[in-house]
Amino acid sequence: MAAINTTATLSSGALMPMVGFGCAGQLGRTTLGHALAAGYMLFDTAQATEWYAEPELGAAIRASNVSRESLFLTSKLHPRDLGEQSTLKAFPRSLASLGTSYLDAFLLHYPRCFGNLCGPMPAEGTWRDSWRALESLYERGEVRAIGVSNFGADELKELIGLARVKPHIVQSWMDPLHQERPVREVCRQHGILFQAYSTLGTQWAGQGVKFNPVLRHPVLARIAAEVGRSAAQVALRWAVQHGVAVIPRSSKPSHMAASLALFDFGLTDEHMRDIDNLDGADPASIHLPPPPPRSCEDENEACGSWADSGECENNPGYMHDACAASCDMCEEKKKKLEL
Ligand SMILES: NC(=O)c1ccc[n+]([C@@H]2O[C@H](COP(=O)([O-])OP(=O)(O)OC[C@H]3O[C@@H](n4cnc5c(N)ncnc54)[C@H](OP(=O)(O)O)[C@@H]3O)[C@@H](O)[C@H]2O)c1
Repeated sequence: MAAINTTATLSSGALMPMVGFGCAGQLGRTTLGHALAAGYMLFDTAQATEWYAEPELGAAIRASNVSRESLFLTSKLHPRDLGEQSTLKAFPRSLASLGTSYLDAFLLHYPRCFGNLCGPMPAEGTWRDSWRALESLYERGEVRAIGVSNFGADELKELIGLARVKPHIVQSWMDPLHQERPVREVCRQHGILFQAYSTLGTQWAGQGVKFNPVLRHPVLARIAAEVGRSAAQVALRWAVQHGVAVIPRSSKPSHMAASLALFDFGLTDEHMRDIDNLDGADPASIHLPPPPPRSCEDENEACGSWADSGECENNPGYMHDACAASCDMCEEKKKKLEL
């Protein structure tokens, strides 16, 4: 198994953890405290209160015994603040909310407003103006790395062409069915670290897909069984093994621990190819295996229904923690649950 570093060196020279914690879902201080206790060192938040709560992260850090200097804190500019002066005015709001004098990374969350996200007033300027502000913040040492999120390959190339300071990080949606290859290729050519979001398949819910096509995918389930890990760990390891940083989000300490445990197992070249080949697959074409016959009696009320929906195969680590007692009654399932 080829060893992979748990940190990446950005083109700024800063060290960044390859596995961080995603704070979307307006996660509160208790959950964030669990993530800090689990050992996460990178936290991905944003100024958009539609999805994130920066003050909760600040409170969780203050309540923990983890030092600010040991953490890597990323935040992102709300697109309503696009424009050079608006960006310079918005940035200190993150410092205040997080209770810190600097950020490790500050990204433009989106290249432009969309839907009702920004209200009726047009933004002061464009992402090009905001980039000049990010360059100033970087040069003044108020942020250690700068970057963008949700930029297409053409916008990214334009940014690289006009930037005095090239982006150090690009954050975009990437999962086994949506691999974002054009943007990753631009990043590779320019020494930019690509950081994936929603690697565990959550974006598909917004596209009307009724099950999680990543965590339930038969190819990931098969590989998970072969390496003795969960489908979630396989998806995250696949990304990291490609040199892509990840920021899984979870509300459960057992999942938080599982998503950090990616460096003591590996995927073979064949596993990597099998997952690479899922790019662009239509979730409608996925044939979920029929639920396994129920043969356990439940001690925990929900274990039977979780097992029926394939969780023994998809999340063996979690089932092992939460349902070992129930499934002890079932020799066949028990074997599957042994990690
Ligand atoms: N820049 C952007 O525009 C943008 C957009 C979306 C997301 N993001 C960032 O990326 C982060 C992650 O993306 P996301 O929030 O969409 O979700 P995600 O991390 O892809 O998936 C989260 C889901 O996976 C489950 N999960 C987590 N760890 C697991 C494990 N080990 N085994 C099984 N299930 C597991 C969680 O359930 P449990 O809670 O039950 O564990 C939750 O339902 C966000 O929090 C945010 O920081 C950025």
